Amino acid sequence: MNKVPELHEVLYLSTLAPDAPLKVVASIASQARKANQAAGITGLLVFDGMQFCQHIEGPRKAVLALTERIRQDPRHVDVDILYHGPLAQRRFRHFGLGYTAVEDVDVLARLRDAGADAALAQFLALQPTLDLDG
Ligand SMILES: Cc1cc2nc3c(=O)[nH]c(=O)nc-3n(C[C@H](O)[C@H](O)[C@H](O)COP(=O)(O)O)c2cc1C
Repeated sequence: MNKVPELHEVLYLSTLAPDAPLKVVASIASQARKANQAAGITGLLVFDGMQFCQHIEGPRKAVLALTERIRQDPRHVDVDILYHGPLAQRRFRHFGLGYTAVEDVDVLARLRDAGADAALAQFLALQPTLDLDG
């Protein structure tokens, strides 16, 4: 009998690299959508015009390997892992991209000082306020 892989989740915050054009966000998102589907990774990438906050979940090995690649990606800086840990059940059915409204520019920044559990809870609570692309 095949063992079901252990699930893991990671939440991080980062800032678009100062020299990166805004259009990299669209290319990151389309690349991520395809690669994540192939790797069994679901979650949500939120961008507010300056900062990224991303939740990824899936098989532990795949999530940890992706986290390492993301950390080294020069298209963003100040990558700060807010939360990581084992997960009993996926929170998302797909991998999606969301935008926060302009008046909410501080929403993501506040997560940095929230503490791991609160950061995760606040990120998940953001979902209904996002423009999601499906
Ligand atoms: C903010 C941000 C989010 C990213 N999210 C993902 C993602 O969810 N899935 C993914 O495969 N790559 C994502 N990437 C791209 C990875 O950093 C990396 O370029 C990609 O995994 C391909 O790596 P490779 O060229 O070493 O194969 C993201 C990059 C950035 C800057």
